[in-house]
Amino acid sequence: MVRRGRSWLRKVRNLVVNIRELGFAEAARLYRYRFSERYHDWRLGIRTTGVIRPAEAGAEEHYQCYEAAHYRCLHAAMQYFDPQGEQDVLLDYGCGLGRAVIVAATYPFARVIGVELSEELSRRARENLRRAKRRLRCPRVQIVTADAACYEVPPEVNAVFLFNPFTGPVLQAVIQRLHHSWQRRPRVLRLVYLYPAHEPNLFQQCGWLELDRELSTADWDGVRMLAYRSAAP
Ligand SMILES: C[S@@+](CC[C@H](N)C(=O)[O-])C[C@H]1O[C@@H](n2cnc3c(N)ncnc32)[C@H](O)[C@@H]1O
Repeated sequence: MVRRGRSWLRKVRNLVVNIRELGFAEAARLYRYRFSERYHDWRLGIRTTGVIRPAEAGAEEHYQCYEAAHYRCLHAAMQYFDPQGEQDVLLDYGCGLGRAVIVAATYPFARVIGVELSEELSRRARENLRRAKRRLRCPRVQIVTADAACYEVPPEVNAVFLFNPFTGPVLQAVIQRLHHSWQRRPRVLRLVYLYPAHEPNLFQQCGWLELDRELSTADWDGVRMLAYRSAAP
């Protein structure tokens, strides 16, 4: 009881500090965003908020922190993919606690795959998946624990999502793997890259993907979400 009282006190103190430092309008935006993220987690019965640093997840070089994509961005990405059932398979590179995978699985994809390097995050993603099961429309959802650089892309994958999961040689290896998969089985491959690490990013330069359009990230200031599609096979 005493602990709960202290935690409320801390929250009120943080609120006051945030209003003082950010101004009322900006603080209101921050709290609206936090509330909305928790609300959507609560609706799906999952826990995906917060930031997890490399050391906590057991990984180091070229590793980006875990943080989930905003729900609004995820829905914008899934609407762009516009899955129609049987032929649509989505791969989320660096799926973390599984939010993007789970949101994708509420759409009619035939299969959704999340690839995650950290065993601990994969375990928690599978737990989230179990909790959200009743709300999913996709019949086959899978969390694979693997380094994306070594993961062979299944030939059915035609939608790829990345929320700035890695940079440098890992990203280069992933682009190569996607290219091989596309060459082996030419198909329309669409890819959404949220929060590109560098501009121009490596997808822009790879020569076999073309920028299709920029998607709205709603009120996520300064963050870009770029949609690419493969050139005609
Ligand atoms: C920014 S989070 C994205 C989370 C998720 N896509 C979402 O939107 O909810 C990036 C994730 O990429 C993972 N990651 C980093 N390097 C990786 C690698 N080489 N292979 C697979 N996953 C990796 C991290 O563990 C982290 O969970």
